Amino acid sequence: MAPAFAVFMEYRVKDLALAEEGKRRIDWAEAHMPVLVALRKKYSETKPLKGIRVAGCLHVTKETGVLVRTLKAAGAELSWCGCNPLSTQDDVAASLVKHDGVSVFASRGVSTKEYYDDIHSSMKLNPHITIDDGADLTVEMHKALEQGRNGGLAGPLYGGTEETTTGVVRLRALQKSGRLLYPVIAVNDAETKHDFDNIYGTGQSALDGIIRATNVLLSGKNIVVAGYGHVGKGVAKRASGLGANVIVTEVDPIAALKAKLDGFAVATMNKAAEVGDVFITTTGCKDVIVADDIAKMKDGAILANAGHFNVEISIPDLEKQSTGTKEINQHTMQYSLKNGSRVYLIGEGRLVNLAAAEGHPSEVMDMSFANQFLSVLKLAQSKGTMKPIVYNIDKQQDQEIALAKLQSMGVDIDVLTPEQKAYLDGFAEGT
Ligand SMILES: NC(=O)c1ccc[n+]([C@@H]2O[C@H](COP(=O)([O-])OP(=O)(O)OC[C@H]3O[C@@H](n4cnc5c(N)ncnc54)[C@H](O)[C@@H]3O)[C@@H](O)[C@H]2O)c1
Repeated sequence: MAPAFAVFMEYRVKDLALAEEGKRRIDWAEAHMPVLVALRKKYSETKPLKGIRVAGCLHVTKETGVLVRTLKAAGAELSWCGCNPLSTQDDVAASLVKHDGVSVFASRGVSTKEYYDDIHSSMKLNPHITIDDGADLTVEMHKALEQGRNGGLAGPLYGGTEETTTGVVRLRALQKSGRLLYPVIAVNDAETKHDFDNIYGTGQSALDGIIRATNVLLSGKNIVVAGYGHVGKGVAKRASGLGANVIVTEVDPIAALKAKLDGFAVATMNKAAEVGDVFITTTGCKDVIVADDIAKMKDGAILANAGHFNVEISIPDLEKQSTGTKEINQHTMQYSLKNGSRVYLIGEGRLVNLAAAEGHPSEVMDMSFANQFLSVLKLAQSKGTMKPIVYNIDKQQDQEIALAKLQSMGVDIDVLTPEQKAYLDGFAEGT
């Protein structure tokens, strides 16, 4: 049966002929996302998102395809764009247009101009709700609202959600400056998001990206992980599990101490630069690897970034130091340095797990996107009554998602007895 297409149906994708392959891959992801699929079943009859326009700006991957299908099944009208120039899976984008009737504006390898054109096209839906990953859509929405450009933004705007650490940091800064114009739910700050997606998801998929791009043996290599937050911990642990010697760099003394006591070497980037074979930045900060570090690197060093933006490895510094480049494969660029060494940059310094691999495994995105879906539902139900601040996820939502995930894995846990609960809540009992 042909899908009932939305009223707003424009799109810009690479090749609609890829739609069948994209559909097969979304189906595969769906088979590994039981929590999100259960939510779809629960809400597909009552359609609580009927009449709600949702603009999404989130990596167009097969897992995002499952989220899009779920939002649509709950009644939403959708437009979608990518949140990174190199992360769109063109077959998935084609499938969402052809089989789900969604207005998708995304393709892999867009220029900066095309990237923002896609965001602006997606804004034309005049959304009640935005879904974002990195805050580029939310910031563009704010520019339009502030400048009265409107861009078709007639409102009412109920709010938005934000998927990643860097986006939440940007939105909290917007709030602090007094310029946040609509409520945003920090999906990243759900425990069932950052304690799983950032750690286990990026931990596995960032190494997957490096392996797919280079196929180097990680065992025995010196792997420098910049940042020991959620993503850094996941990457460091998995690299260590593959037999690498991990060196962590940090700016936060507590995080550095944790890395040290977890058994990793800790050093400054400038020192680590001398011995590293592979460098992975995971900080959400900029200029983590700069000219002076690059100049000290061994011939053959491999550079990759897993943080949200391509500013962690200074590409301008890399370019300034190099006498020429050579493409090794579609993901890997060789830079010949003035000092005679060669270093290799993967995925243009963009999120390596999405640029050179497929992004996080579906199983972790199941929880991240269950949080997204329930947050969209909450915003829809609020009908614009929430204050323009950054909201945390309700603890109850977190717990329900964790429980549903455990159940889907056939895992039972104990339940507190009333006596245990009273004991934990009280002060009377001691020795
Ligand atoms: N690749 C992906 O799919 C993916 C997934 C989740 C998050 N992210 C992104 O990864 C980045 C990190 O996220 P997180 O959740 O781990 O954040 P986090 O806040 O938990 O950790 C960041 C760590 O980096 C450290 N740091 C900051 N500046 C540094 C510097 N100059 N040198 C060394 N260390 C520094 C901080 O002290 C902190 O410990 C963010 O940009 C986030 O958006 C990417």
